[in-house]
Amino acid sequence: MSLRSDTNATDNLNERYRLAQSVATDAGAIALEMFRRREQLVVEYKGLQDMVSEADRNVEGYIRRRVGESFPDDGFLGEEGGSDRDDAAFVWVVDPIDGTACFVNGMFSWCVSIAVVHRGEPVIGVVYDPNADELFHARSGGGAYCWNKPIRVHTGCLLKDGALGVGTSFRVGTEAFVPFIESIMRDGGMFIRNGSGALMITYVAAGRLIGYFEPHMNSWDALAGLVLVREAGGVCNPFMENDGLRHGNPVLVANRNVYPQLARHAGMREAGSA
Ligand code: IPD
Ligand code: CA
Ligand code: CA
Repeated sequence: MSLRSDTNATDNLNERYRLAQSVATDAGAIALEMFRRREQLVVEYKGLQDMVSEADRNVEGYIRRRVGESFPDDGFLGEEGGSDRDDAAFVWVVDPIDGTACFVNGMFSWCVSIAVVHRGEPVIGVVYDPNADELFHARSGGGAYCWNKPIRVHTGCLLKDGALGVGTSFRVGTEAFVPFIESIMRDGGMFIRNGSGALMITYVAAGRLIGYFEPHMNSWDALAGLVLVREAGGVCNPFMENDGLRHGNPVLVANRNVYPQLARHAGMREAGSA
């Protein structure tokens, strides 16, 4: 049975939607307090150019507790603490701080990212940027908002009509990224990388960036933003295929005009549903 035809499930979704917004803003306030005294935080490396701080772990722990108090049977998948019942009907997919390298080095592009997946379909996306005090939120069929103002994707027709967000990591080789940059620049495209993929996908939903490409993202980086983009009138590649929840996938998002152009540059196929 689809979620929209099941009143009970819709009520349950609304409760989770409210909780996701409340938890994201509260978690963001905790993270912001830690950001302001970041010199005192213990920072470790998980891999090449891949950091984690005390703040990431504490904030994820806080979000897990809040979700567990209200929805003890829901699954949870977080970047730092891993997965717990990720085969449950509802699974919370959380990056407590996306943009950790920016966070620990005193730059402002980081955010809290919370998605909820219902039976394999991402249905809620919430991204909170505490520095700008912007709360972006969307739920399936309900539109996308910054606080209570509706947001829409960019209206440009061509890649050269706006700036493209990009990201990459050492989870993939340089060949998955460098040729793409050359290809879009030959087409008049220009790129921005601010260090937080979740925030840049959200900027696509808000019409600030014309699109976003990254050759591999984990579900906790991408899913909240993908719900926002879809609800703001944009399209994305089928991120959930091949167990994207657990293994991640490439991410390509844009409006309907620009998506096929970007897909050609990235060597990817048609748009799908996150
Ligand atoms: C990273 C950021 C970065 C993206 C990477 C992510 P983290 O997440 O979103 O922009 O390019 O793929 O892993 O480590 O800052 O949470
Ligand atoms: Ca991340
Ligand atoms: Ca993170």
